[in-house]
Amino acid sequence: MEISKINETLANLFNMVVKLEEEERQHSSFTDLSVVEIHTLVAIGTEKPRTMTQVAGILNISVSTLTTAVNKLLKKGYVERMRDSEDRRIVKVTLTEKGREAVEEHDHYHNMVVKDAISFLSRKEAVRFATSVNVINDFLHMRNAVPKKVRKGAVMAPLRLGDITIPVPVFNGGMSMGISDGTLAGNVAKCGGAGIISATDIGIHEDDFEENPIEANKRALLREIEKANEIASENPDHGPVGVNILCSCANFEIYVGTALEAGVRMIVSGGGLPLSLPGLCKGYEGVTLIPVIASVRAAKVIMKNWRKRYKRIPEAFIFEGPLAGGQLGFKEEQLEAANETFYNTIAELKGVLAESGDGSCALIVAGGILNRKDCKKVLTCGADAVQLGTRFAVSQESGAHENIKKAYLDCREKNITVIKTPVGMPAHVLKNEAIEKILAGEKIPHSCNECLINCPGEEAQFCQMELLRKAAKGDIENGLVFCGVKARKIKRQESVEEIMQSLIK
Ligand SMILES: Cc1cc2nc3c(=O)[nH]c(=O)nc-3n(C[C@H](O)[C@H](O)[C@H](O)COP(=O)(O)O)c2cc1C
Repeated sequence: MEISKINETLANLFNMVVKLEEEERQHSSFTDLSVVEIHTLVAIGTEKPRTMTQVAGILNISVSTLTTAVNKLLKKGYVERMRDSEDRRIVKVTLTEKGREAVEEHDHYHNMVVKDAISFLSRKEAVRFATSVNVINDFLHMRNAVPKKVRKGAVMAPLRLGDITIPVPVFNGGMSMGISDGTLAGNVAKCGGAGIISATDIGIHEDDFEENPIEANKRALLREIEKANEIASENPDHGPVGVNILCSCANFEIYVGTALEAGVRMIVSGGGLPLSLPGLCKGYEGVTLIPVIASVRAAKVIMKNWRKRYKRIPEAFIFEGPLAGGQLGFKEEQLEAANETFYNTIAELKGVLAESGDGSCALIVAGGILNRKDCKKVLTCGADAVQLGTRFAVSQESGAHENIKKAYLDCREKNITVIKTPVGMPAHVLKNEAIEKILAGEKIPHSCNECLINCPGEEAQFCQMELLRKAAKGDIENGLVFCGVKARKIKRQESVEEIMQSLIK
């Protein structure tokens, strides 16, 4: 079909919807509501109370515009404001009984109209129509989020970070317990990407890990770095090998030292704000440093702190969105709003980075990125590169236990849930016996070797690291398996090369 014909069809559809909505308003039992006000009530929703930021995110308007609308709805008796029971500083909005009735009547009318409209389509045509509308909706939502000056088209261009060139702007996520090992990172780098080894309990499979975890981790890290470099060097146009080290790990400094001594030129650090990282890299000035962040605020704090203390800013940030596997940087109650404002945050971050320093600080985006289409969306918003975790965890080359790979491949939406980790942050995980106990509030007995800062240790409901280790050894019923929200869409095991090719072609 020609573009002009599609244009005409969409315009007719749009006009018809506007007319129907106006007609509904005239015949509704709630004639004092405008169409825009009904949509505001729908966005507030009939479920749990929402914050103003969440509702503004859903409607794609500013909080101040929403405040004016909500004030009017308050006067008319459709909504009420309330304080959050856990944090009294947070104000939420919810529907009154009258507001609920208005939304229910509106939903009922819509359902009737849609039912009538699709009665002329076969089931297959109706599903195809709904899928196409979803794709267009998603695209418009993303496009609307991006200010014109940031839109740059979706180009997978080589990325330069300090002295390092990454021919294919794809990172594998650093995944603990040996998932992101030398073989995975080496193969990603061999395909032109940035191959990242996770230092967190990389020595889990060493014989002396139980008695001497630090030495076992250091030894394994050195060996995996060497292995990754060896694999990468099979392609003269390979990308760099880097190491991901959690700054919330009690032995952060030790592993940074080991990575630097091994000649690593790129360090990624998450699990908090890595404010001491440049100081630890003194004497290794050419090393590229990349903090993992979950907000614009975190990026600003790190840049301000590093500038003042070390007269530098990071070469790049990895912005990890709310769909990512692993522990997240958002509070649980922020997840929904963070999801709705994901593309806006990328664009906002890009704007902040473009205005800082000489504008060379790059933006890498992670969380829920699986395919070329996902890459295109975040690149259009301003990302310079992408990071994928779960899809690489399933790959032939990853160090994940076969039981974990199988569990990812078998999982459905209902198998993925959110728990609060001992440090109080949410994490998406695969449901199993251990998770059922955690969700039921049961304490899982554990010992403590004070491996994470900010963890309540023996007082914690469970030991995150102990359970991660259990799963890493194959016990996926009693262990903890971190998992990206889109894991259910991964249907088969691929090689790293297949994954990389699918993202760029
Ligand atoms: C099993 C697993 C373990 C992870 N471990 C870490 C980690 O130790 N440090 C870290 O910074 N991120 C960790 N992450 C997050 C990944 O590096 C990556 O950013 C994330 O998985 C991207 O989201 P995706 O899985 O939807 O692609 C982990 C993710 C998974 C799935």
